[in-house]
Amino acid sequence: MILPIFLYGSSVLREVSKPIDKDYPKLKELIDNMFETMYNADGIGLAAPQIGLPIRLFVIDISPLDTEKTFAELKNYPKTKIFINAEIIERYGDMIVHEEGCLSLPNINEKVSRPDKIKIKYLDENFEEHLEEYEGYFARIIQHEYDHIDGKVFTDHISPLRKQLIKSKLTDIVKRKMNCKYRFK
Ligand code: NI
Repeated sequence: MILPIFLYGSSVLREVSKPIDKDYPKLKELIDNMFETMYNADGIGLAAPQIGLPIRLFVIDISPLDTEKTFAELKNYPKTKIFINAEIIERYGDMIVHEEGCLSLPNINEKVSRPDKIKIKYLDENFEEHLEEYEGYFARIIQHEYDHIDGKVFTDHISPLRKQLIKSKLTDIVKRKMNCKYRFK
């Protein structure tokens, strides 16, 4: 089922999300719905707060990215990932600047500086614990989604000057006066 995506201005996007346990109701159905919602909106990542649930869950599917040329390092990673109760333990490596966008902020793309590498602990959909290291664009996507479960969005990282320049666009989103091809709240 395709769910509406909560846009910038929704208070749930500013909450620090709570961990979940194995008994969380209809978790498999929820994860399936998150993937479907993300695919429908042409996203490569979606966090639970973006569908109105302040829980520490996000999903990623990098299939649409060009792993032959632009993101060659992604070849080594699985296409699809589910992160439950994730905790980034370490961020390291060079700070890398790259453009980002977000399904909760339609029509906004801004350069964001993030550490190139991360070490992350999380549970998969079977509640098995993993400790993994990621780098490059995959590490960026994870950090972007992880921000969502900590109540942050990518525009929180941009300079005051850039923020000023996109202020009217942000205000339009808060007023829901923007173009958006998928269902939103
Ligand atoms: Ni996002």
